[in-house]
Amino acid sequence: MKPSVLVTKRIYPEAIEYLEEHCDVDYAGTDDGLSPDELKQRLRGKQAVVSQLTDRFSAAVIDSLEGVRIIANVAVGFDNIDVPAATRKGILVSNTPDVLTETTADFAFALLLAAARRVVEGHQFVHSGRWRKWTIDLLVGHDVHHRTLGIFGMGRIGQAMARRGRGFSMRTLYHDAVRAPESIERELGIEFVSKEQLLKEADFVSLHVPLLDATRKLIGEAELRLMKKSALLVNTSRGPVVDEAALAKALGECWIAGAGLDVFEREPEVNAELLKLANVVLAPHIASASIDTRREMSMLAARNAVAALEGRRPPTLLNPAAWDSRSTPKEA
Ligand code: GLV
Repeated sequence: MKPSVLVTKRIYPEAIEYLEEHCDVDYAGTDDGLSPDELKQRLRGKQAVVSQLTDRFSAAVIDSLEGVRIIANVAVGFDNIDVPAATRKGILVSNTPDVLTETTADFAFALLLAAARRVVEGHQFVHSGRWRKWTIDLLVGHDVHHRTLGIFGMGRIGQAMARRGRGFSMRTLYHDAVRAPESIERELGIEFVSKEQLLKEADFVSLHVPLLDATRKLIGEAELRLMKKSALLVNTSRGPVVDEAALAKALGECWIAGAGLDVFEREPEVNAELLKLANVVLAPHIASASIDTRREMSMLAARNAVAALEGRRPPTLLNPAAWDSRSTPKEA
């Protein structure tokens, strides 16, 4: 008998075809997602699940699972899954790193440029018919080239962002819980600094940290007050890394000049105060949303699921301890 996999939401058809070659597929097939109760129910008799960042795998959901070998998340972030609970239960968890690195950094830089150079305000101005004449200071914004970029989180996406900054002749400062190897610092021309120094000196602060207890509200009122009045904040990581109410206040009262946000504290809800402001560019969590990348993310999650079902180590496994605790692992 073929193993069974649940796919909780719509993904790219190539990934469904690949899964169907190897397993029986219970495909929810819509964009609605499943509630925790529906998840528990649909996962009865399944050996794998291909999930998305909107599916909540709490410890309670995980503890209720019987026979599930892997939760294969179609995202690089995995704050929707209680990974320690999965590890305790011997359930593998995988994510989709690498395939989205450059695409996500492209979008973070696009938000930075859009916010600095007022691209969206310009678009709205032209569309509204208010453009009557060229004037010397019409929608003047902030230069990006030769300015200082401050990056929180020097993982894959942080590094890709630093490369983009280099292309714009920027000085790049970074802060992370762990300092990057010297070879990376040299290659990217980046300087490790304290959180305070980064906030005080950067013209652009870009967030590339995972959502963890230690990074929740990493940027709050105190941090926003340390930033330059002319600085801009870019967030393509996870909404709760920023205190959204404090950010709305900072933007409204001009403690900082602007922001570009792709992620929010309670998606798809957006803080009502942010929606009123002109100095923030808002996007609906689409930093990794290129056709090729979303297809690759779907495929990688499917490959992770099939590997686990065939007794192979999933290519992008997050909890090796769960793999090590299995009885007779075969190397990929
Ligand atoms: C998107 O936010 C991801 O984590 O892949």
